[in-house]
Amino acid sequence: MDRIRVRGGNRLNGIIPISGAKNAALPLMIASLLSDETLTLDNVPRLADVNLLQHILGNHGVDVTMSGKRAGDDENDGQTLRLSAKNIVDTTAPYHLVSKMRASFWVIGPLVARMGKARVSMPGGCAIGTRPVDFHLDALRALGADIEIEEGYVIANAKKGLRGAPIKFAKVSVGATHTALMAAALAKGETVIENAAQEPEVFDLADCLIKMGAKISGAGTSTITIQGVERLHAARHSVLPDRIETGTYLMAVAMSGGDVLLKGAKPELLQAALDLLAKAGAEITSTNEGIRVKRDGNRIEPVDVSTAPFPAFPTDLQAQLMALMTRAKGTSHIRETIFENRFMHVQELARLGARISVDGQTATVEGVERLKGAPVMATDLRASVSLVIAGLAAEGETMVHRVYHLDRGFERLEQKLARCGAAIERVAG
Ligand code: UD1
Repeated sequence: MDRIRVRGGNRLNGIIPISGAKNAALPLMIASLLSDETLTLDNVPRLADVNLLQHILGNHGVDVTMSGKRAGDDENDGQTLRLSAKNIVDTTAPYHLVSKMRASFWVIGPLVARMGKARVSMPGGCAIGTRPVDFHLDALRALGADIEIEEGYVIANAKKGLRGAPIKFAKVSVGATHTALMAAALAKGETVIENAAQEPEVFDLADCLIKMGAKISGAGTSTITIQGVERLHAARHSVLPDRIETGTYLMAVAMSGGDVLLKGAKPELLQAALDLLAKAGAEITSTNEGIRVKRDGNRIEPVDVSTAPFPAFPTDLQAQLMALMTRAKGTSHIRETIFENRFMHVQELARLGARISVDGQTATVEGVERLKGAPVMATDLRASVSLVIAGLAAEGETMVHRVYHLDRGFERLEQKLARCGAAIERVAG
């Protein structure tokens, strides 16, 4: 298994191009199941999760083609995928595929909406919490699907098609909002989703569905209204920039010091994180080209923050912020309100000399003068990148094991950082 070796102490200077968002690309690819015409997606990041989803969609009968490299192409440009679900040959998503990536459960919405049936494996547990799918099932039931659970599979049937209905989520869920949006797009009549997720990736999915002919208003707010249509057609859509990748590099530069332009980043996608970092002492400027982040010699100020649904500070940046705060000039309090078990990086950061204690959902981080490199283990996607950030500031060598987690969600991480001066490399095997 590959590892990543980081030698701490270098400042970061230069340009880091921001890739298309993984969390937008996945539902957008799944939306291709809604139409028998081709969906073309630009700016798709080159990630293990994207490859895996191609495989999963292929199993349902979706033809996926990837455009090859053209002369003059910038290697930082995302790839273009053409997804054609002309013939859906299989409405089952098997356990061995769904268990590898939770988001693949989301095929259930489009399959039942277009084909009237779906049999999708329950995704099972996950390192960061129990992550049930009850809201997805409630939404499909509201739209008239008959839902049964047999041998670990959700079996959804709507022989006469789905019917628009009011859906009110008890709690904000990004995935369940995606499911409801995609299913309602082809349901008969009007659906109103209340307490919908307002994350930019929901807006991006709705935007693409509208290009495919869906009638959707209110995406990006907590109430989304959908007038179902009979069919959706071909469309072309470009995936929005990755706000989590952006936030991760912001923390990396704040950690190591330096001056970096995050090219293509959009400030409105992560204003809460930008405000927090500015408070912590990083200098942040938005330009036409992206976001520029600078920090000179001063130490980072501690912060108190809670994760919460968009537009608040995102749970997917919690581990990275914690890494940064390990070297702050005082004590920070970081409260995780979205997932109940998302502090697995704490033990690993402690191996580098961080002082963190956890009480329920709150981590108290006492800033220390120095971190010292050590071997550490990546436990999940965002936790693993927090170890890289800590390694950038630790004395000596940090070896991050199990980096396959990183490859799921960060495109060419070590290259992007190395080009700005970080001493970081992948060690194969
Ligand atoms: C998505 C993101 C993930 C991010 C999360 C929260 C993708 C591929 N993943 O995950 O990176 O951390 O949003 O911003 O886009 N819940 C239920 N029942 C359900 C569904 C969710 O109780 O049926 C709970 C979850 O356990 C969690 C909370 O709702 O506590 C929010 O989860 P949700 O927004 O659904 O996360 P995902 O869509 O899985």
